[in-house]
Amino acid sequence: MYKQLIDKLERERTLSRNEYLTLIKNRDKCRDYLTARAFAVRNKVFGNTVYIRGLIEISNFCKNDCFYCGIRRSNKNVKRYRLTPDEILSCADEGYKLGFRTFVLQGGEDAYYTDEVLCSLIREIKERYPDCAVTLSLGERSYKSYKALKEAGADRYLLRHETANFEHYARLHPKEMDFFRRLGCINDLKALGYQVGVGFMVGSPYQTLEDLADEMLFLMQIKPQMVGIGPFISQKDTPFKDFESGSAELTTFMLSLIRLTLPNVLLPATTALGTIELDGREKGILAGANVLMPNLSPSFAKKNYNLYDNKICTGDEAAKCIECLKQRIKKTGCEITVARGDYNEI
Ligand code: 5AD
Ligand code: FES
Repeated sequence: MYKQLIDKLERERTLSRNEYLTLIKNRDKCRDYLTARAFAVRNKVFGNTVYIRGLIEISNFCKNDCFYCGIRRSNKNVKRYRLTPDEILSCADEGYKLGFRTFVLQGGEDAYYTDEVLCSLIREIKERYPDCAVTLSLGERSYKSYKALKEAGADRYLLRHETANFEHYARLHPKEMDFFRRLGCINDLKALGYQVGVGFMVGSPYQTLEDLADEMLFLMQIKPQMVGIGPFISQKDTPFKDFESGSAELTTFMLSLIRLTLPNVLLPATTALGTIELDGREKGILAGANVLMPNLSPSFAKKNYNLYDNKICTGDEAAKCIECLKQRIKKTGCEITVARGDYNEI
C-alpha cells in the first residue's frame, strides 16, 4: 500500500494531505523504498552531480527575536560582528578560486546593510565574476528594496517560511513577526523574477506530523525553485533551549517527499543536517538532495554565527571543507560540480 502511494507520488507529483500524512506516520515501513525512488529521480534530473554554494555569513546582528534562533537580538552572549564589503569580496575571491560559482550572502536583519551598501556590493561581485550567481538570504525587506537588489544583479533569494501553519508560526516567533507579511515577501520575490527558496525546520517545537503534511501542500502551491530544510537544533541561550532537537531520520524522509513532489527543485543537504548526525549530509544526498552549502566566512564570523549549538565546520578552512565534502560525497556515488546550478523548468 505504501509502495503504491510512493509510485503514485512519483507519477503524479502530488498526493492528498491524508496520503502524505499516511506516509509520514508510517515512515518506518516505507523509508527504504521512498529513499531509493527519490535518489533515482534526483539522478534522472541532475545526473550524479551535486551543486555547491559558497555561504558567506555577513552579519550576526539581527533585529528579530525568533524563539529558536541563537543570534536573536535578546541573546546577550553573542559576540556580534558584521563583515565589511571588502571582507565579503575577499571571501568571494577565495571561493571563486575554489570553484564556487554561486555566492550566498546570508545574515540577520541588520540595518547596516542598506540598499545602497548591498547594491554596490552585488554590482562589484557581478563585475568581478560575471559567471557567478548571487543569492541573498537577508530576511524580510520591502518590495522596493528587493527590486533594487534584483536590478543590481542578485539572482536568487532564500527566505524560509519556517512553518506553513500560521498558528505554529506564532508559537515560534514574537508577536511583532507576522506569517502573512512573510508570505507577502515571498510573493514579492517571485513577482520580481528571483529564483526563490523557501523552507522550514523539521522537529521544531510544537510541530506535528500533520503540519509536515501541510508543508508538502504549501510547497506545491508556492512552487519554489529551492527548498531549504534542516532539523531544529536547540540553542542554549534561547527560550527553546530545553526542547528536543529534530532528527536526521525525519528530515531525510521529508527531503525525499520533496524530491518526488518537485523533481527539479534545488534541495540542499544542510549544515544543520550534518550537525545532528555526522553523515547527515551524505544521507541527505542519498535521500534526494542535490546541493551543499559550505561556509566561506572568515573564522571569527563562523565561530559567532551560531543559529544552533555544535554547528560543524566552524574551525575549518573553506579549502579543507571542500576536500572533506568531496570525500564524503564520493561515497554516495555523486560528485561535486563547478557550475552555477540554476533552476531549470522541466
Ligand atoms: N535550529 C535549526 N535551524 C535553525 N535556524 C535558525 N535557528 C535554528 C535552530 N535553532 C534556521 C532557520 C533560518 C535559517 C537561516 O536557519 O530556518 O531560516
Ligand atoms: Fe567542513 Fe567536512 S565539510 S570539514
